[in-house]
Amino acid sequence: MNVLILGATSDIAAEVARIYASRGARLYLIARNPEALAQLSAELGSAVVSSDAVDFTDYARASAAVERALTALGTLDVALLSQGYLGDQLESERNFEEARRQIEVNLLSAVAQLIPLAQHVEKNGRGTLAVITSVAGERGRPRNYTYGAAKGGLTLYLQGLRSRLWGKAHVVTIKLGPVDTKMTTHHKKNAVFASIPQAARGIVRAVDRRAGEVYVPGFWFFIMAVVRNMPEAIFQKLSFLSGR
Ligand SMILES: NC(=O)c1ccc[n+]([C@@H]2O[C@H](COP(=O)([O-])OP(=O)(O)OC[C@H]3O[C@@H](n4cnc5c(N)ncnc54)[C@H](OP(=O)(O)O)[C@@H]3O)[C@@H](O)[C@H]2O)c1
Repeated sequence: MNVLILGATSDIAAEVARIYASRGARLYLIARNPEALAQLSAELGSAVVSSDAVDFTDYARASAAVERALTALGTLDVALLSQGYLGDQLESERNFEEARRQIEVNLLSAVAQLIPLAQHVEKNGRGTLAVITSVAGERGRPRNYTYGAAKGGLTLYLQGLRSRLWGKAHVVTIKLGPVDTKMTTHHKKNAVFASIPQAARGIVRAVDRRAGEVYVPGFWFFIMAVVRNMPEAIFQKLSFLSGR
Protein backbone atom coordinates (compact mmCIF):
# COMPACT_ATOMS: atom_id res chain seq x y z
CA MET A 1 0.00 0.00 0.00
CA ASN A 2 1.46 3.38 -1.08
CA VAL A 3 0.61 6.30 1.18
CA LEU A 4 1.54 9.96 0.73
CA ILE A 5 1.20 12.19 3.79
CA LEU A 6 1.29 15.97 3.39
CA GLY A 7 1.80 17.97 6.54
CA ALA A 8 3.26 14.75 7.92
CA THR A 9 4.73 16.33 11.06
CA SER A 10 1.32 17.48 12.29
CA ASP A 11 0.64 15.69 15.57
CA ILE A 12 -2.34 13.91 14.05
CA ALA A 13 -0.71 13.06 10.70
CA ALA A 14 2.38 11.63 12.43
CA GLU A 15 0.12 9.29 14.38
CA VAL A 16 -1.69 8.30 11.17
CA ALA A 17 1.75 7.59 9.63
CA ARG A 18 2.58 5.31 12.58
CA ILE A 19 -0.63 3.34 12.00
CA TYR A 20 0.09 2.89 8.28
CA ALA A 21 3.71 1.96 9.02
CA SER A 22 2.51 -0.72 11.44
CA ARG A 23 0.39 -2.12 8.59
CA GLY A 24 3.44 -2.41 6.35
CA ALA A 25 2.60 0.54 4.07
CA ARG A 26 5.22 2.38 1.96
CA LEU A 27 5.15 6.00 3.10
CA TYR A 28 6.22 9.22 1.40
CA LEU A 29 6.22 12.15 3.82
CA ILE A 30 6.12 15.86 2.96
CA ALA A 31 6.16 18.61 5.59
CA ARG A 32 7.55 22.08 6.24
CA ASN A 33 9.86 21.50 9.19
CA PRO A 34 13.00 19.57 8.05
CA GLU A 35 14.15 18.65 11.59
CA ALA A 36 10.76 17.28 12.67
CA LEU A 37 10.46 15.47 9.34
CA ALA A 38 13.89 13.85 9.74
CA GLN A 39 12.95 12.77 13.26
CA LEU A 40 9.65 11.21 12.15
CA SER A 41 11.32 9.50 9.17
CA ALA A 42 13.99 8.05 11.47
CA GLU A 43 11.30 6.77 13.84
CA LEU A 44 9.37 5.08 11.02
CA GLY A 45 12.51 3.59 9.48
CA SER A 46 12.20 1.46 6.37
CA ALA A 47 8.48 2.24 6.01
CA VAL A 48 9.51 5.65 4.62
CA VAL A 49 10.36 5.56 0.92
CA SER A 50 11.46 9.19 0.99
CA SER A 51 10.58 12.59 2.40
CA ASP A 52 10.63 16.19 1.29
CA ALA A 53 10.64 19.46 3.26
CA VAL A 54 8.82 22.38 1.68
CA ASP A 55 6.63 25.31 2.73
CA PHE A 56 3.22 24.59 1.23
CA THR A 57 2.55 28.25 0.48
CA ASP A 58 5.45 28.06 -1.96
CA TYR A 59 2.94 26.58 -4.36
CA ALA A 60 5.23 25.75 -7.27
CA ARG A 61 7.76 23.95 -5.05
CA ALA A 62 5.01 22.14 -3.14
CA SER A 63 3.37 20.93 -6.38
CA ALA A 64 6.76 19.76 -7.65
CA ALA A 65 7.24 17.85 -4.38
CA VAL A 66 3.88 16.14 -4.90
CA GLU A 67 4.88 15.17 -8.46
CA ARG A 68 8.19 13.73 -7.16
CA ALA A 69 6.30 11.73 -4.53
CA LEU A 70 3.90 10.30 -7.11
CA THR A 71 6.83 9.23 -9.29
CA ALA A 72 8.63 7.63 -6.33
CA LEU A 73 5.55 5.78 -5.06
CA GLY A 74 4.37 4.60 -8.47
CA THR A 75 0.66 4.06 -7.88
CA LEU A 76 -0.98 6.01 -5.10
CA ASP A 77 -3.35 4.23 -2.75
CA VAL A 78 -3.92 6.98 -0.19
CA ALA A 79 -2.94 10.64 0.11
CA LEU A 80 -3.67 12.49 3.35
CA LEU A 81 -3.57 16.31 3.45
CA SER A 82 -3.11 17.39 7.04
CA GLN A 83 -1.62 20.89 6.99
CA GLY A 84 -3.44 23.55 8.94
CA TYR A 85 -2.93 26.92 10.55
CA LEU A 86 -5.38 28.12 13.20
CA GLY A 87 -3.65 31.46 13.66
CA ASP A 88 -4.99 34.41 15.57
CA GLN A 89 -8.61 35.32 14.78
CA LEU A 90 -8.45 38.82 16.30
CA GLU A 91 -5.26 39.56 14.35
CA SER A 92 -6.97 38.37 11.14
CA GLU A 93 -9.71 40.94 11.74
CA ARG A 94 -7.27 43.88 11.63
CA ASN A 95 -4.38 42.59 9.57
CA PHE A 96 -4.98 41.20 6.09
CA GLU A 97 -1.61 39.39 6.13
CA GLU A 98 -2.81 37.16 8.98
CA ALA A 99 -6.16 36.53 7.24
CA ARG A 100 -4.32 35.68 4.03
CA ARG A 101 -1.99 33.28 5.83
CA GLN A 102 -4.92 31.39 7.32
CA ILE A 103 -6.66 31.14 3.95
CA GLU A 104 -3.46 30.23 2.11
CA VAL A 105 -2.43 27.38 4.41
CA ASN A 106 -5.90 25.96 5.01
CA LEU A 107 -7.40 26.36 1.54
CA LEU A 108 -5.05 27.43 -1.25
CA SER A 109 -2.17 25.11 -0.36
CA ALA A 110 -4.58 22.15 -0.39
CA VAL A 111 -6.01 23.17 -3.77
CA ALA A 112 -2.49 23.48 -5.21
CA GLN A 113 -1.72 19.92 -4.07
CA LEU A 114 -5.08 18.43 -5.00
CA ILE A 115 -4.70 19.45 -8.65
CA PRO A 116 -1.81 17.04 -9.40
CA LEU A 117 -3.19 14.43 -6.98
CA ALA A 118 -6.64 14.41 -8.60
CA GLN A 119 -5.13 14.13 -12.07
CA HIS A 120 -3.03 11.17 -10.91
CA VAL A 121 -5.88 9.19 -9.34
CA GLU A 122 -8.23 10.07 -12.20
CA LYS A 123 -5.74 8.76 -14.75
CA ASN A 124 -5.11 5.56 -12.74
CA GLY A 125 -8.79 5.00 -11.96
CA ARG A 126 -7.98 4.30 -8.30
CA GLY A 127 -6.78 5.89 -5.08
CA THR A 128 -8.16 7.77 -2.09
CA LEU A 129 -7.59 11.46 -1.40
CA ALA A 130 -8.29 12.16 2.28
CA VAL A 131 -8.29 15.74 3.52
CA ILE A 132 -8.67 17.13 7.04
CA THR A 133 -11.09 20.02 7.29
CA SER A 134 -12.89 21.12 10.45
CA VAL A 135 -16.23 21.46 12.16
CA ALA A 136 -15.25 25.15 12.27
CA GLY A 137 -16.02 25.20 8.54
CA GLU A 138 -19.70 24.42 9.05
CA ARG A 139 -20.93 27.71 10.50
CA GLY A 140 -19.04 30.95 11.09
CA ARG A 141 -18.43 31.90 14.72
CA PRO A 142 -16.54 34.92 16.08
CA ARG A 143 -13.76 32.86 17.65
CA ASN A 144 -12.38 31.45 14.38
CA TYR A 145 -14.37 32.51 11.34
CA THR A 146 -11.35 33.33 9.14
CA TYR A 147 -9.91 29.83 9.69
CA GLY A 148 -13.46 28.42 9.45
CA ALA A 149 -14.09 30.14 6.10
CA ALA A 150 -10.95 28.52 4.66
CA LYS A 151 -11.86 25.06 6.01
CA GLY A 152 -15.48 25.48 4.84
CA GLY A 153 -14.23 26.48 1.38
CA LEU A 154 -12.07 23.37 1.34
CA THR A 155 -15.04 21.18 2.30
CA LEU A 156 -17.00 22.63 -0.63
CA TYR A 157 -14.08 22.12 -3.02
CA LEU A 158 -13.87 18.49 -1.93
CA GLN A 159 -17.59 17.96 -2.53
CA GLY A 160 -17.13 18.93 -6.17
CA LEU A 161 -13.93 16.91 -6.51
CA ARG A 162 -15.64 13.84 -5.06
CA SER A 163 -18.39 14.03 -7.68
CA ARG A 164 -15.84 14.63 -10.46
CA LEU A 165 -13.87 11.51 -9.48
CA TRP A 166 -16.90 9.37 -8.59
CA GLY A 167 -16.48 5.81 -9.92
CA LYS A 168 -12.74 6.34 -10.48
CA ALA A 169 -11.26 7.39 -7.14
CA HIS A 170 -12.37 8.35 -3.63
CA VAL A 171 -12.37 11.68 -1.85
CA VAL A 172 -12.71 11.54 1.93
CA THR A 173 -13.51 14.76 3.79
CA ILE A 174 -12.59 14.53 7.45
CA LYS A 175 -14.49 17.10 9.49
CA LEU A 176 -12.46 17.08 12.65
CA GLY A 177 -13.64 18.34 16.02
CA PRO A 178 -11.18 19.81 18.56
CA VAL A 179 -8.14 17.62 19.26
CA ASP A 180 -5.51 18.05 21.95
CA THR A 181 -2.49 18.84 19.70
CA LYS A 182 0.12 21.58 19.48
CA MET A 183 -2.45 23.59 17.50
CA THR A 184 -4.68 23.83 20.58
CA THR A 185 -1.98 23.95 23.27
CA HIS A 186 -3.36 27.18 24.74
CA HIS A 187 -7.03 26.21 24.52
CA LYS A 188 -8.97 25.30 27.62
CA LYS A 189 -9.76 21.60 27.23
CA ASN A 190 -13.26 20.25 27.78
CA ALA A 191 -15.15 16.98 27.30
CA VAL A 192 -15.45 17.32 23.51
CA PHE A 193 -11.67 17.36 22.96
CA ALA A 194 -10.37 14.17 21.36
CA SER A 195 -6.91 12.72 21.92
CA ILE A 196 -4.37 12.40 19.09
CA PRO A 197 -4.66 8.55 18.89
CA GLN A 198 -8.46 8.80 18.89
CA ALA A 199 -8.39 11.29 16.00
CA ALA A 200 -5.80 9.27 14.04
CA ARG A 201 -7.74 6.02 14.42
CA GLY A 202 -10.94 7.79 13.28
CA ILE A 203 -9.16 9.12 10.20
CA VAL A 204 -7.70 5.75 9.21
CA ARG A 205 -11.11 4.11 9.73
CA ALA A 206 -12.75 6.71 7.47
CA VAL A 207 -10.13 6.10 4.77
CA ASP A 208 -10.51 2.31 5.11
CA ARG A 209 -14.24 2.49 4.48
CA ARG A 210 -13.87 5.26 1.88
CA ALA A 211 -16.40 7.44 3.64
CA GLY A 212 -17.42 10.55 1.72
CA GLU A 213 -17.78 13.16 4.46
CA VAL A 214 -17.14 12.01 7.99
CA TYR A 215 -17.06 13.62 11.42
CA VAL A 216 -14.20 12.61 13.72
CA PRO A 217 -15.08 11.80 16.47
CA GLY A 218 -18.46 10.62 15.20
CA PHE A 219 -20.57 12.39 17.86
CA TRP A 220 -19.91 15.67 16.00
CA PHE A 221 -22.41 14.50 13.40
CA PHE A 222 -25.22 15.13 15.89
CA ILE A 223 -23.82 18.39 17.30
CA MET A 224 -23.23 19.87 13.85
CA ALA A 225 -26.65 18.81 12.59
CA VAL A 226 -28.08 21.13 15.26
CA VAL A 227 -25.54 23.93 14.73
CA ARG A 228 -25.84 23.86 10.92
CA ASN A 229 -29.62 23.77 10.72
CA MET A 230 -30.58 26.18 13.47
CA PRO A 231 -32.35 29.27 12.10
CA GLU A 232 -30.22 32.43 12.38
CA ALA A 233 -32.62 34.25 14.71
CA ILE A 234 -32.49 31.43 17.28
CA PHE A 235 -28.75 30.87 16.76
CA GLN A 236 -28.03 34.50 17.63
CA LYS A 237 -30.09 34.25 20.83
CA LEU A 238 -28.07 31.23 22.03
CA SER A 239 -24.74 32.83 22.76
CA PHE A 240 -23.14 29.52 23.82
CA LEU A 241 -23.72 28.36 20.21
CA SER A 242 -23.16 31.54 18.22
CA GLY A 243 -20.14 32.28 20.40
CA ARG A 244 -21.05 35.98 20.61
N1 LIG B 1 -6.26 20.22 16.62
C1 LIG B 1 -7.52 20.56 16.42
O1 LIG B 1 -8.28 20.89 17.36
C2 LIG B 1 -8.09 20.52 15.02
C3 LIG B 1 -9.49 20.63 14.85
C4 LIG B 1 -10.02 20.58 13.58
C5 LIG B 1 -9.19 20.43 12.50
N2 LIG B 1 -7.82 20.35 12.69
C6 LIG B 1 -6.99 20.19 11.50
O2 LIG B 1 -6.23 19.00 11.65
C7 LIG B 1 -5.05 19.09 10.86
C8 LIG B 1 -3.85 18.66 11.69
O3 LIG B 1 -3.66 19.60 12.74
P1 LIG B 1 -3.02 19.21 14.15
O4 LIG B 1 -4.08 19.36 15.16
O5 LIG B 1 -2.27 17.94 14.03
O6 LIG B 1 -2.06 20.44 14.41
P2 LIG B 1 -0.49 20.63 14.18
O7 LIG B 1 0.27 19.57 14.87
O8 LIG B 1 -0.24 22.05 14.52
O9 LIG B 1 -0.34 20.40 12.61
C9 LIG B 1 -0.50 21.40 11.65
C10 LIG B 1 0.55 21.16 10.60
O10 LIG B 1 0.37 22.08 9.52
C11 LIG B 1 1.67 22.43 9.11
N3 LIG B 1 1.74 23.70 8.39
C12 LIG B 1 1.28 24.91 8.80
N4 LIG B 1 1.60 25.84 7.89
C13 LIG B 1 2.29 25.20 6.89
C14 LIG B 1 2.89 25.63 5.70
N5 LIG B 1 2.88 26.90 5.29
N6 LIG B 1 3.52 24.71 4.93
C15 LIG B 1 3.56 23.41 5.32
N7 LIG B 1 3.01 22.94 6.44
C16 LIG B 1 2.37 23.85 7.22
C17 LIG B 1 2.46 22.54 10.38
O11 LIG B 1 3.84 22.46 10.07
P3 LIG B 1 4.98 22.88 11.13
O12 LIG B 1 5.18 21.63 11.95
O13 LIG B 1 6.13 23.23 10.27
O14 LIG B 1 4.46 24.04 11.91
C18 LIG B 1 1.94 21.36 11.18
O15 LIG B 1 2.73 20.21 10.96
C19 LIG B 1 -4.99 20.53 10.36
O16 LIG B 1 -5.52 20.59 9.05
C20 LIG B 1 -5.92 21.26 11.31
O17 LIG B 1 -6.43 22.45 10.75
C21 LIG B 1 -7.26 20.37 13.92
